[in-house]
Amino acid sequence: MSAEFGPELDFAVAVAREAGAVLRENYGKVHEVGYKGRIDLVTEMDRRSESLIIGRIRNAFPGDAVWAEESGRDLSGSERVWIVDPLDGTTNYAHEYPVFAVSIALQVAGRLRVGVVLNPLLGDVYAARQGGGATLNGHTRRVTDVEALDRAFLATGFGYDVSTEPNPERNNLGPFSRFIVRAQAVRRAGSAALAIAKVGVGRTDGFWELGLHAWDMAAAMLIVEEGGGRITNSRGGPVDLEGRELVASNGRIHDAMLGVLAARDGSTAGAADGGRPRAAMPSEQGDPPPPESMRGYVMGLLYRGPNPPATPQAVEEIQRAHLATIGRLQREGKILLVGPFLDEGDLRGMFLFDTDSIDEARALCDTDPAVRAGVFRVELHPWYGAKGI
Ligand code: IPD
Repeated sequence: MSAEFGPELDFAVAVAREAGAVLRENYGKVHEVGYKGRIDLVTEMDRRSESLIIGRIRNAFPGDAVWAEESGRDLSGSERVWIVDPLDGTTNYAHEYPVFAVSIALQVAGRLRVGVVLNPLLGDVYAARQGGGATLNGHTRRVTDVEALDRAFLATGFGYDVSTEPNPERNNLGPFSRFIVRAQAVRRAGSAALAIAKVGVGRTDGFWELGLHAWDMAAAMLIVEEGGGRITNSRGGPVDLEGRELVASNGRIHDAMLGVLAARDGSTAGAADGGRPRAAMPSEQGDPPPPESMRGYVMGLLYRGPNPPATPQAVEEIQRAHLATIGRLQREGKILLVGPFLDEGDLRGMFLFDTDSIDEARALCDTDPAVRAGVFRVELHPWYGAKGI
């Protein structure tokens, strides 16, 4: 267990408590509310909390850089960067909805080393330092061992661009509609930092969001990692603090969560409508579906290729490599439908790519070792269908 960053962790806890006390004392009092965007508001309390935290950092660690929600990122070039959300859950705070947090992380040389998320009303301190495990109020905690998505208590959130981002896969309405019928429950409480930190200490099983900022997630990400959980972007890749997306889980339900994220709208809506995707259809009078409900895809047909594997072992190996590629492409959301033809006794079948051009689809096929080896031959056809299939 690393003994590093203990002083920074103690410092972050103390400063979060100090800022939290200011937020708590002023909770429920009338505040000046400004707007950064149509629904993205900022209170005087965001600013007061932030200047307190930054002041303390400048005093204690004068050479360090700060990246904070309201004042942005300083360009001092230090490899030590404090990532600060002085009030996560501003909208809640302004409406006296009692879910908000102070979030403080320290990143050194590109790695998160310290993370503290404080719930000022309850006094709960979620904390971690690299190699030191996750704690809740000083007690070591771990992620849950829930394995099935239908037993999982999940949380999510919606970015402030929910009203302007038309794509349901990007504004989270698509994933939300799928998770809500698959999970035990989904909560949207309005503070991403708290919701993510709860995964790390085993209070919830998973979290996803597609419109986050670094300050919303940095501290809590380390708490999840140190609690034994897993964090990725929505395609299962590494998290980019500026990439806006995070999937955090106890690890056990992670692949299932990525699968739900990769499925396009309607494909797993299941319980809600008998399990069939709702495709746009011509009307009873024979009118075509509205053009905006249709888009281009690429359909592929898979046949036996010119180079069949020579031994049963080679067949087994190439099929595994082929299936692994299909799994990856599905998780990445590139393949929407895939399946073998029945009664053929091998893996010949069809699939549907969510790509606009044949060239893009061909490049994806070329990532399949079985296609590259000539074990399979692929035919690609442009296909026009209902959006969201
Ligand atoms: C917001 C909250 C919310 C999340 C948004 C965040 P803020 O942070 O964490 O839960 O859904 O994406 O921007 O603006 O209240 O600090």
